[in-house]
Formats: sequence, structure tokens, C-alpha cells
Amino acid sequence: MLSLPLPKRLSPESVNGSPIHNTTYENMVEQLEKIGKDALAALKKITDAEMLEEFRIKYLGRKGRITQMLSQIGQLPPEQRREAGRLANKAKKEISEAFEQLKKSLLQSQQEKSQELLDVTLPGIAVHIGKTHIITQTINELLEIFGRMGFAVAYGPEVEDEWHNFIALNIGPEHPARDPFDAFYIDDNTLLRSHTSPVQIRVMEQTKPPIRVVAPGRVYRPDTVDATHMYMFYQIEALVVDEDISMVDMKTTIDQFIHAYYGPEIKWRLRPSFFPFTEPSGEVDLLWVDKHGKENWMEVGGCGMVDPNVFDAVGIDSEKYTGWAFGFGVERLAMRKYGINDIRLLFENDLRFLKQF
Ligand code: PHE
Repeated sequence: MLSLPLPKRLSPESVNGSPIHNTTYENMVEQLEKIGKDALAALKKITDAEMLEEFRIKYLGRKGRITQMLSQIGQLPPEQRREAGRLANKAKKEISEAFEQLKKSLLQSQQEKSQELLDVTLPGIAVHIGKTHIITQTINELLEIFGRMGFAVAYGPEVEDEWHNFIALNIGPEHPARDPFDAFYIDDNTLLRSHTSPVQIRVMEQTKPPIRVVAPGRVYRPDTVDATHMYMFYQIEALVVDEDISMVDMKTTIDQFIHAYYGPEIKWRLRPSFFPFTEPSGEVDLLWVDKHGKENWMEVGGCGMVDPNVFDAVGIDSEKYTGWAFGFGVERLAMRKYGINDIRLLFENDLRFLKQF
């Protein structure tokens, strides 16, 4: 606490013979006392750093009250200057010390307070960071499963030519899938690919058997949008070409894949179908029991043994080699896995939906 001792008053006689000044010694002692009292009172009211700084400027700063006093000492008669200077400096020192002490204790209590506020047992604040979309997650998982089964990954362009999307796949001009309404055309020869099967052609044009690839990617069809159809969706294509490849290899691989992805309980079926680029052809359905216990078969894609015409188109000897292929819808695979009943949910980017995966 600040205690400013009363200075020893010099008797008027001691100013004997000095000229009369505005600033008299008594006056100055009185003012120093007042400054001391004011400072003490002001210090008591200080509660934060801002007030502390205000105080410093007012009392101890370059234009502060103490400095003002010190600058007036020169106006006193010479014989009084020494004592007045000593008193003023003493006052300054005491105020400074009280100030420093208060500053220190303020700082300390501030630190204590902030320590009290830190409860290390509280759970942290979760930071929301982005993550991969459920379709990307699904594709990554599928690629991992096929990777373990020895499949390489291939990619093809989404803007395709008729040769890869149709002609080399044995889809003649009279085939209904060639109808312009079944694909988005850019010009007479160029279109957004309507399936990932053109990647089969691109791979076989560039690679000699044995071939074992999967090809994920976007495909485009002018379908009317509903719960199971979208004008853009993803497929994952598989192609295996080697000597002595049979339908049994295809069925076994599909069965292993389906169980690796869904677990042992899943039921699936292979039913006959038709595609120009496979012979024989089939379609794969997954069993989906809805919440009322009703059994539904959901189609996930086509498959079949590579048609010899396709081998001819890419210059692979169809006498020596056989192969199989499939093309599955990625969204449908994911919908079955997560119980999603509307494909549109996958493209609306509603965070309430996406956050669940
Ligand atoms: N490309 C076919 C489709 O989009 C699926 C398929 C792929 C069928 C490979 C047979 C073999 O429907």
C-alpha cells in the first residue's frame, strides 16, 4: 500500500530573501501530498489493464502529474530545490512501486482466473472437417476388394466416340441403345458415354491377355429421374480375358465380391438377359427385404461372356481367348448396403444426409 510520509516542512524563515515565486515550496509540498492521496485512491479502483495504463499515463507518464511537479522545481528558490526535488522523487518512487505491485498482482489473478477456466476433462470441441462423398467412399471400397482379388484399375474418358461406346461393343446402328435418346450426343460421332463398357474396348486395344481390370466412372443417360434413375450415375466395370475363362469364373468372382462387400447373409441371383457385347448375358439382382418384410429383387447390373465379335473388333484371337465382363451401378450397390431408398439423395448434397456416412 502507498504511504506518502509528510515531508518535513521548512519554516518560512528559511526562504529568507528569496524572490516570490508562483510555485512556492509549501504549495509544492501540498500538491505532492494531494497527488499522493489521489494516486492512492486511483490505484484502489483499478481492476483491469486498461485502467492501469490510464493511471500510468496520468501519474507517471511524460506529461503526468509527477513529471509536471518535477519540472516546476526550477522555479523555486535555489536553496529549496534540493529538498523539493528529493520529496518529488520520493513521491514518484512510491507511486511507481505501488503501481508495479498492483500490475503484478493483476497479472497474477488474471492467470489464476484463466487457469480456473481450463477444465482439461471437458470433451473437446469437434471441428467439422470435410470428408469424401459416400459414392467416393463406395468406389474406394469396391476398388480395394477387387484389388485384393487381383484386379488392376483402368479409367476411360467420359466424352466418348461411337466406336468405343457402341460399334466395337457389337451394338449395331439398328440396336435400340443407339437411338439418340439413349445417349447425350455432342456431335454425330461424339457422346457422353452411356456405360463404362467402352473402357473394356480401350483396355483390350492396348493390352494383350491375360487381362483383369475394373473400371469405375460416371456414365450418362437421358433417363427420367426417379427413385432409382438418374441422368448421370456411376458404374464399375470388370473385364477378365484369358485362356479357358468360363462362366463359372464369372459367377464365382461375382459371388465372392458380393459377399466380401455385404457379408455372408446377402442373397443374390443371376438371371438371363441380353447385351450385344456378351453371349450369354445375365443380370445380377440383390435381395432387399423392406421394412414391412416384403422381399424385393433389385437389379444392380449386367454381365456375361465377352462376345467373339468384340474380340474381333479389338484384334484379340477369339479362338484362343475367352472372357467375361460385368457393369454394376455403384449407387445401387451403395443403396443396398446402406438402406438408401432414393438415388436422388446421393446427388442433392444435403449435409444432413451426407454427414451420416
Ligand atoms: N454396359 C452394360 C450396361 O450399362 C452392363 C454390362 C457390362 C453388361 C458388361 C454386360 C457386360 O447396362
